[in-house]
Amino acid sequence: MKIETSPSVRRLSLLGALSLVLGISMAHEAASAASFYFNESSRLFALHAQNVSYIFGINERGELQAMHWGGRLADSDAIPAAQADRDHSSFELSTSTTPQEYPGWGAAFYGEPALKLSFPDGNRDLVLRYVSHRVESQRLLVQLKDISRDVRVELRYEMDAESGILARSARIENHTRQALVVQQAAAAAFSLPAADDYRLYSLSGQWAGEWNLDERRLAPGMTVLESRRGSTGHQHNPWFAIAQNVSNEESGPVWFGALAWSGSWRISVEQDSTHRLRITGGYNPFDFSYRLASGEALETPVFYAGYTQGGLGEASRLMHRFQVTHILPQSPQPRLRPVLYNSWEATQFDVDAAGQTKLAEMAAKIGVERFVMDDGWFGARNNDKAGLGDWTVNPKKFPNGLKPLIDTVKSLNMDFGLWVEPEMVNPDSDLYRRHPDWVLNFSGRPRTEGRNQLVLNLARADVRNHVFKMLDDLLTRNDIAFLKWDYNRNWSEPGWSAQKLEDQQKVYVAYVDNLYWILRRLRERHPKVEIESCSGGGGRVDLGILRLTDEVWPSDNTDPYDRLSIQDGFTYAYTPAVMMAWVTDSPNWLNQRSTSLEYRFLSSMQGSLGIGANLTHWNEPDFELARRLVGEYKAIRGTVQQGRLYRLISPRKGSQHSATQSVSNNGAQAVLFAFLHSSSTGSAYPRIQLRGLEAQARYHVRSIAGKAESGTPEEASGAYWMTRGINLDLKGDFRAAALVFDRAAQAK
Ligand code: DGJ
Repeated sequence: MKIETSPSVRRLSLLGALSLVLGISMAHEAASAASFYFNESSRLFALHAQNVSYIFGINERGELQAMHWGGRLADSDAIPAAQADRDHSSFELSTSTTPQEYPGWGAAFYGEPALKLSFPDGNRDLVLRYVSHRVESQRLLVQLKDISRDVRVELRYEMDAESGILARSARIENHTRQALVVQQAAAAAFSLPAADDYRLYSLSGQWAGEWNLDERRLAPGMTVLESRRGSTGHQHNPWFAIAQNVSNEESGPVWFGALAWSGSWRISVEQDSTHRLRITGGYNPFDFSYRLASGEALETPVFYAGYTQGGLGEASRLMHRFQVTHILPQSPQPRLRPVLYNSWEATQFDVDAAGQTKLAEMAAKIGVERFVMDDGWFGARNNDKAGLGDWTVNPKKFPNGLKPLIDTVKSLNMDFGLWVEPEMVNPDSDLYRRHPDWVLNFSGRPRTEGRNQLVLNLARADVRNHVFKMLDDLLTRNDIAFLKWDYNRNWSEPGWSAQKLEDQQKVYVAYVDNLYWILRRLRERHPKVEIESCSGGGGRVDLGILRLTDEVWPSDNTDPYDRLSIQDGFTYAYTPAVMMAWVTDSPNWLNQRSTSLEYRFLSSMQGSLGIGANLTHWNEPDFELARRLVGEYKAIRGTVQQGRLYRLISPRKGSQHSATQSVSNNGAQAVLFAFLHSSSTGSAYPRIQLRGLEAQARYHVRSIAGKAESGTPEEASGAYWMTRGINLDLKGDFRAAALVFDRAAQAK
C-alpha cells in the first residue's frame, strides 16, 4: 500500500480534499476504517479511528515531534506544522524539552531516551532524524537515521479501527561497518501536554496478592514501573492508565497502554520541568546490553496504547474488546472458556490414576467440560523438591500411563488438560544431573534456588529444542486438549556462559523470543490445544503471552472474597475472557475464611469458571447447587467472558459492597453480580443503577441467586433499570446475588 501525500500549505486539514484516506479496515464489525494521512507541506502524520486522533510531525530540525494524542479532531480543524520548543534557558534546551516520538540519547537530551547506543570508538551520541516513510501491511513505517552514522530506526504504527488503540514498536538496524551495543531500547515514547492534574494508575502485587490498583498524583520527576526478574512479574504489571482530575470510572480523559512483552520490562512515566508527560516503555535497560553486529537488527516488543473520554471503565472495555478481537490466539472470535476442573487444591502432589478418575467422575456430574490434572504426575515428583524436568509419567502413580485416565475423562464428555512447568528444573532430577550447564548461572558462582528449582536457560538453542520436543511428544502421544503452563520462580544469576562474552546479556531477549517460538510452534503443530499462562498465579500476564495463550491464572489466592478485589484489579487491564476463577474449598487454604458454596460460585462466575474443590468432600446438596449454577453459568458465560464490563461498585478500599455488570455485545443480555461483605446496623444494600442498556428496550429480570426487594417489577425499560435502578434483598456476611436481565423481543 502506498501512502499518498498532499502538496499544500503548512496546515493539515484532516479530512480535507487534499489529504487522502488510506482506508485500513479491520476484519470484524469495525464501524469505520482507521486512516492515515500525511501532509507533505506541513509534514504532519495523522492516524484516526473512532474517537481518537494521533498526530506527529517532522520539525525544522528533522526530529519526529509528538503533536496530539487524544480525542478525534473535527474535519475542519487544522494543526500547525511541528515546531521545536525554543530554548527556555541554557539549562532547559530545546533538544531536551521538545516532545520527540523516539528520542535517541544524544545532543543535549536529559529525559528518558527511547534508544541509547554505544559505538566501538567510544561515541555514545545518537541524534535521530526523519528520512522517509511508507505504508506496508496496514502499518505506517517511518525511517529515522542518526545524523552521521548509518544507524537506522524504523518506527511502526498501526491503529485499530474499532478501538483507536495504537500499536507501536521499533526496529533498530546497524548499517555501520562495526558492531555497536544497544544499551536501552524502548518500543515507543508517548507524550502528553503540560498539565498539573495527571493521575497515574498502575497494578502492583505479590504472590497470592496480585492486581492491586494503585493511584498516584504525578509531579515532576520519574515514576518507574518495571520487572527486572526475567519475566513479567507479580509485583508490577506492564500496564498503565493516566487520568486527570475530571476523570473517574465513567467519564473523563484516560490514556492507557500495555506492553506485549513477557521478559524484563520497564514503563517510565516522566513529568518534565515543563510539566509535559512522557511515557516510555520497552525492554528494561537494567543489565541490558544487546550487541548488534554490522547488518544486524533488534526489534522491540509492541507497546499498545489507547485513549478515551469515557473514564477508566471505557478504557478497560476498549482493552477487553481489543484483546478478544486482536490479541488472543483465536481472535477475532475466541472460543468461550469451557468450565474446567483442576485437581491442585484437592490433591496437591498426591495424584494417581484412581484418585483422579474419581474426581473426574464427580466433576462430570456437575457439568464440567474440561478435567485438568495438575502437578505431581511425572518423574519423582511427590513434592516440590524433585522431578521437575523429567516429563515422563510416574509409573507408580499411573502404571498404565495417562491413557486410561484420558479415556475415562473423554468418555465422561470432558476433554483432558495437563499441568507442565517446562522452563524449570529441580537439581534433584535426571535432566539436571545430565545437563547442569543448562540452567541460568554464572560459572563458579552459587545458584539460588526458588521453590527448590532453577531456571533452564531457554535462550540456548539446545534447551529450546529440548523443551519443544518434550512438549511436542507429550501432545503427540496423548489426547491432550489443554496445557496449564506454569512458571514458579523468577530469574537469578542470569548468566549464559556458553555464549560469547559480548553476547551473554542477550539472554533477556533471546529467552523470551524462544519461549514465544516454542509456544507458536506448538500451536501450529497442535492447533486444537489450548494453553493457560500461569506463573504461581498471575506472574506472567501480559499482551505478549496472551498472543499465544488462551487464558491465564490470575492468582493462587482462591478465597472468594479476596478474589473480588483481585478480579476487579485484573479487569482494569485484561479481559474476563481469559480470567480463570475456581470455586475451591471452605475454609479457604490461604486465609481460613469460611464462605458458602453459593458465594464462592458467584465470585468465580464473574470470570471463566473453574472448580478446584475436593469434590470427595461434597454432599448431595452441594452437587445439586453446583450442577444448577454451572448450568446457569453456561447460559451467561458469553456475556460475562466477552461482553462489556461495568464495574458498578468497587470492592477495593474495604468497601462492604461490590457489584459488576456485564452486557452482551448484541445488547440482549445483562448480568449483575452483587456482593455483600458484612451487614451493619441493618442498613439496606445500596440501590444499583445498571449501565449500558438500551433505554427504550424492555428487560425482563430473573435471579440466579439472591433476590431483588419485593415490589421490584419483573420487567421494565432499560431507562428504568439505569435510572431508578434495583434494590437487592441482601443481608448477612459474605452474601451474594446474581441477576440476569434479558431484553424482551420487541420494544414496547
Ligand atoms: C502454582 C500454580 O499457580 C498452582 O495453581 C499449581 O499449579 C502449583 N503451582 C503446582 O505446583
